[in-house]
Amino acid sequence: MYAAGQEEIDAIANVIRNHALFRYGVGGECDRFEARYARYLGVKHFALAASGSNALAAAMTAVGLGPGDEVIIPAHTYMATATSVLAAGAIPLIVDVDETLTIDPDAVEAAIGPRTRAVVPVHMWGAACNMNAIMKIAEKHKLIVIEDSCQGVGGGYEGRKFGSIGHVGAFSFNYYKNMTCGEGGGVAVNDDKLAERTRCAIDPCHFYWHGRNDEVKPFAGNGARASELMGAMLNVQLDRIDGMIGAMRAEKRKILEGTGSLDNLGLRRTKMNSADSDCATQVMYTLPTADAASRFVKIFPSVIAGKTGRHTYTEWDQLLIQSGAAHPAMNPFNMPANAECRKVYTKEMCARSLEILDRTVMVATHPQHSADDIAGIINNIGVAARVVLGGMKLDEADLRRAAPVDAQKFDLKVEA
Ligand SMILES: Cc1ncc(COP(=O)(O)O)c(C=O)c1O
Repeated sequence: MYAAGQEEIDAIANVIRNHALFRYGVGGECDRFEARYARYLGVKHFALAASGSNALAAAMTAVGLGPGDEVIIPAHTYMATATSVLAAGAIPLIVDVDETLTIDPDAVEAAIGPRTRAVVPVHMWGAACNMNAIMKIAEKHKLIVIEDSCQGVGGGYEGRKFGSIGHVGAFSFNYYKNMTCGEGGGVAVNDDKLAERTRCAIDPCHFYWHGRNDEVKPFAGNGARASELMGAMLNVQLDRIDGMIGAMRAEKRKILEGTGSLDNLGLRRTKMNSADSDCATQVMYTLPTADAASRFVKIFPSVIAGKTGRHTYTEWDQLLIQSGAAHPAMNPFNMPANAECRKVYTKEMCARSLEILDRTVMVATHPQHSADDIAGIINNIGVAARVVLGGMKLDEADLRRAAPVDAQKFDLKVEA
């Protein structure tokens, strides 16, 4: 959560005061948010759900993915990208990321086989995937594109918002996202029928409240309906998002300007697609080696992308042990329809991604950082770079006080 205050408290209190916590026939906050956020993204429909994981699974179900299908996903993303493929009965195919920390379009094209039906570009850490390349590959090979924009609220690519470029986009509004209501998520889609199927996947009883469209047969699914408390908070958060992203982009520009000369030492700004329209809550640097990165973060507490636990395929136990569902008969890895899908996962399979991730360092920005905070960050990046890459002695370093890294968000093991 980056900013929340009295407006959110008032909006939630009103919902409670009015006894209007249920979205259908009682309250209007979820409907209002869906219409406003669809407009913000530039899509026709947005369907709220209880989480980003559920939104992704609903998107996969809505587009018709299932047993017999392979879905290409990146080696670096939150594990729900992978488990949502399994929830639809399909098989995830993991490919490398490139130095942008997002899916490598060459790796996508190289991985396409006879069973491949979809690709999931993930705008990881708020940084854009190379969507032009991915959409071109998808068109050539007739792949469905599901944009995992769970970390991409407020960001975009070459003038279009994340989640509005592929065939369908999924978002998360959990506590760590740019816009939050504690938990929550949703799906952005233009096609009317897909929107109806998405709503059914999110809430199988949806048609009961909204009327049945005879062109779209309902199907069974788990319920993940959003509440009016969520809709009310998101309506306030949506008013804040552009100001907040603007403040973080301005901070990023200042930090990059203030540290630009350090590339002489080997501290390089991480390559980004559509760099000025990101919604990242950090500035990223690529160091020459993993050892340099780990010494850097010891001097200036910051985060190594490869050390954030659940965000790298080596931590996705459900895939590594082929446990794709609770019941063995529902486990996509056991399904005869998936017999010809590629499904061998090893911890070494995307070594290039691991090598890149282990030498990428992320320095947190925050919309409430003061000019002094930003000057301190620039100073500390310079100190860490000079010690690690320039031979300066640590006892000569002038480190300033800095805000602590959010250990929970980045899954950092706190050393005793
Ligand atoms: C890239 C990505 N995909 C999917 C999700 C799942 O979202 P949620 O935590 O709301 O289920 C997240 C959440 O962290 C995410 O970062």
